[in-house]
Amino acid sequence: MKIQFTPTSLPESGQLIVLVKENAPLSSLGQTLDDQTHGALTKSMRVEGFTGKQGELINLVAPNNTKLDRILLLGVGGNSALEVQQAADTIIHQIETFKLSTINVLAEEDEQAAQFAYGVQLSNYRFDKYRTRQELQAKCLLESVTIATPTPTAAEQIHTPLNAVAEGIYITRDLIWEPANVIYPQSFADFCLGLDIEGLSVEVVNSQQMAELGMGALLGVGQGSAFESLMVILKYQGREDNESPVAFLGKGVTFDSGGLSLKPNSSMNTMKEDMGGAATVTGLMVALAKRKANINAVGVLGLVENMPSDKAQRPSDVVTSMSGQTIEVMNTDAEGRLVLCDLLTYTQRQLKPKAMFDLATLTGAVLIALGEEIAGIFSNNDELAAQLTQAGEVEQEPVWRLPMGGQFDRLLDSTIADMRNNGNKLRIGGASVAAQFLYRFIENDTPWVHIDIAGTAWTGEGQPNKPKGATGYGVRLLDRMVKEHFEK
Ligand code: BES
Ligand code: MG
Ligand code: ZN
Repeated sequence: MKIQFTPTSLPESGQLIVLVKENAPLSSLGQTLDDQTHGALTKSMRVEGFTGKQGELINLVAPNNTKLDRILLLGVGGNSALEVQQAADTIIHQIETFKLSTINVLAEEDEQAAQFAYGVQLSNYRFDKYRTRQELQAKCLLESVTIATPTPTAAEQIHTPLNAVAEGIYITRDLIWEPANVIYPQSFADFCLGLDIEGLSVEVVNSQQMAELGMGALLGVGQGSAFESLMVILKYQGREDNESPVAFLGKGVTFDSGGLSLKPNSSMNTMKEDMGGAATVTGLMVALAKRKANINAVGVLGLVENMPSDKAQRPSDVVTSMSGQTIEVMNTDAEGRLVLCDLLTYTQRQLKPKAMFDLATLTGAVLIALGEEIAGIFSNNDELAAQLTQAGEVEQEPVWRLPMGGQFDRLLDSTIADMRNNGNKLRIGGASVAAQFLYRFIENDTPWVHIDIAGTAWTGEGQPNKPKGATGYGVRLLDRMVKEHFEK
């Protein structure tokens, strides 16, 4: 989709979207248009009781005394960034109704123009790659957006970093949408190696090297698969100094069949999304590098496929993690924590981060508890958890802190090893038990947040600025976190 910012002027033909703030007068050009149409705009607003609330829409067809086909009056409420982005979402939902393939927008300010463009980008997405028949291809996508705004160069400047985040989100969504016969550890790693962005370097650690590092927990998960397990390290050096990095770890189970603790097919057929954490970290690293964030950051991806076979690990096997702690694998479907625990140890010992965030589609329990819009977070650091909660509110990617400790820890006790990988058969407190497992691998109080995105990585119904399917949830959230707390 093409995005253009142009100087404020009225188009001669086609359609025009006029952004209107709640209970505020029309912009000067809006007034000009109102005069030209002998008050059609203000009259229709009166008739419809339109006040400019976010998402309110009036469709004025063939307005008098202009050559325009249509004027759409679109409410942006209080004109906050989120409201403007969501107003753009409203338009994207109307594309088919109004048969739009390109839109002209009249913005009042440059900030509004940039946020509207960003909102259009976030909403104007569909994964169409595998539809070969024309009639099934997206007629529901815009081809271009032209936004008239007071100072186009200023709007562009505001939009540039937003565009970087949108690009990151598209990458995350694409990777999650891709089926597991296309995205498996090697092809995921190849995708990363193909990223050619200034300041971003990519390193792939293969299974043999991981074995030498002692990453027995991660390797155990992948041993039933025909695909080799890999770890990818994405380093972004955005600062001149050698300040220790902020680390982002991602669960990248490219397909989770459950392993020998096989899933029923009702819950297996969505498990291509189980690399959502790794996809989010990848999208985030791209966003940070493309907007040249003033931070040193590192992304660590654990890429494995969890499959049953004669080589697969068995329920009751004991593996030794890189930390040296032993784990009794009582349920091969609780594999994400086995991948992450070795990533945590590797990251702390080799990369010495000043803070660590892990993202994982870790538990069905968090989906049941919090649904598809809110991620569960767990942390050993109140300040970091509070900052992340705040960032989630700003970006409308909310998080909710859930507890650890006590019973959740006791449930992990094993009769034969240092711990087992699941709690009891009833799966009580499942999201907290999983987080508690990870906490056993945190060394020297490294500030850490675990983000369970099993609910938020995918949306069945669609959400504002998140079309149905892979959401890209987490890129905005962590980009905001970086911007507010690590770039100073
Ligand atoms: N990948 C799943 C969690 C999941 C569920 C992700 C739904 C996305 C949507 C994870 O590996 C898993 O199977 N977890 C088990 C843990 C249990 C066996 C202790 C679960 O949540 O049931
Ligand atoms: Mg599983
Ligand atoms: Zn899984």
